[in-house]
Amino acid sequence: MRPPPGTVVCRWADLQTTGTVLYRVEGFEGFVILDDYLPRGYVDACPHNGMPLGGDQEETDYQTREQDVIICRWHGASFLKDSGECIGGPCAGDHLEPWPVERRGDEVVTV
Ligand code: FES
Repeated sequence: MRPPPGTVVCRWADLQTTGTVLYRVEGFEGFVILDDYLPRGYVDACPHNGMPLGGDQEETDYQTREQDVIICRWHGASFLKDSGECIGGPCAGDHLEPWPVERRGDEVVTV
């Protein structure tokens, strides 16, 4: 189940440092990535097969080295940060499921 609005996901400074923050509670897996100066949240389930994007190495950085797109480590699907649209790979045209978040002061919270 999704955490309720106002739930603290992470510190803003931590997202700026890592670029990706994974969020795990029982029954829900999500992640937040830094898109320039905005946090973007998505449910951590690839449209291709429903697995978390980290792959079998349980990678915790969900962006390419250039930090221009989100990447799924299983089969290389790539997604736009701002819309979650898959622009390459086996699920092209599908979308990540949005998980709305915003920055409030020093924190990133659900909305
Ligand atoms: S599970 Fe993400 S590309 Fe296959």
